[in-house]
Amino acid sequence: LMPSNPKNDNSFLERANCRAKGGASGFKVAILGAAGGIGQSLSLLMKINPLVSVLHLYDVVNTPGVTADISHMDTNAVVRGFLGQQQLENALTGMDLVIIPAGVPRKPGMTRDDLFKINAGIVRTLCEGITMYCPHTVVNLISNPVNSTVPIAAEVFKKAGTYNPKRLLGVTMLDVVRANTFVAEVLGINPIDVDVPVIGGHAGTTILPLLSQVKPACSFTAEEINYLTNRIQNGGTEVVEAKAGAGSATLSMAFAASKFADACLRGLRGDANIVVCAFVDSQVTELPFFASKVRLGRAGVEEFYPLGPLNEYERSGLEIAKKELGQSIAKGTYFITKA
Ligand code: NAI
Repeated sequence: LMPSNPKNDNSFLERANCRAKGGASGFKVAILGAAGGIGQSLSLLMKINPLVSVLHLYDVVNTPGVTADISHMDTNAVVRGFLGQQQLENALTGMDLVIIPAGVPRKPGMTRDDLFKINAGIVRTLCEGITMYCPHTVVNLISNPVNSTVPIAAEVFKKAGTYNPKRLLGVTMLDVVRANTFVAEVLGINPIDVDVPVIGGHAGTTILPLLSQVKPACSFTAEEINYLTNRIQNGGTEVVEAKAGAGSATLSMAFAASKFADACLRGLRGDANIVVCAFVDSQVTELPFFASKVRLGRAGVEEFYPLGPLNEYERSGLEIAKKELGQSIAKGTYFITKA
């Protein structure tokens, strides 16, 4: 329980609530799975984002502690915690952006698809909540396997008649963050100056870095291309193995998710030229979902960029990626439509 204010009873609570209600300008953001490895760091990063006026932290465990802790940071956002299914309604009501890192992470030897059984059900439950309590929100879906959980979310929304493909985004930003880092290392420059488009999906060979389109313009040897492609595709496994049973990427993922959420919020605010790679409902290829460069705006995803010229290596990578991706998408869709 919060101690009462020694000066004047509970008026400070009222003031916080008043600020949260719109006294402060900004967006309302919920994190579902906020007590987890990604969730805690992401909560911290969203609390320092000046675009956020209200931050709701929801999980099935430990949110009172995380919320008390984060709420002491002297930044603008008003933080509230929600624990368990019966508080999902209050956690979601009124939210502009819902970020979902809920679910189990990989252990050594596991693929992202091995998480399907558990995480598919979690994502379904949370998305059903969204259809009821904040059907117009923008959703950033992090829970793996993203290649299947985004189609699951889409089907749940379709079933409820609330699906807006512009507002459902699978987060592949960590692949871009890794690609920028590893390419910068090879080029010997600051990663902040590097932009690598990563398309396809978010698992193994579905992760397709377009090294021919790196900015600043540069060229790589065949050996460098092989090294970089493999390292970007297996960056997640590199972390899973180094953590040796203690989970998967959480810190770099929270950073990537916070960058991605910030781009979504700037889009919602109406900023120009907000371009990210995201796994979305797409007509860029024949697949129903695909990660590629999109422009974000007030509506969510407002424009799709073509894949651009691919070299031979990337064209064959794309064919391999599409095959696996098609199966993962179908698996997610079927999980809901079979019921
Ligand atoms: P974690 O196990 O540390 O945290 C997950 C949290 O979700 C826990 O606090 C748990 O209580 C909570 N949770 C479980 N069921 C829930 C429910 N029904 N409602 C709300 N919360 C629930 O896992 P971590 O490391 O934070 O990873 C979370 C997910 O993110 C995993 O699926 C992981 O594979 C995925 N991930 C995605 C990445 C991406 O690039 N998209 C990168 C890294 C991880």
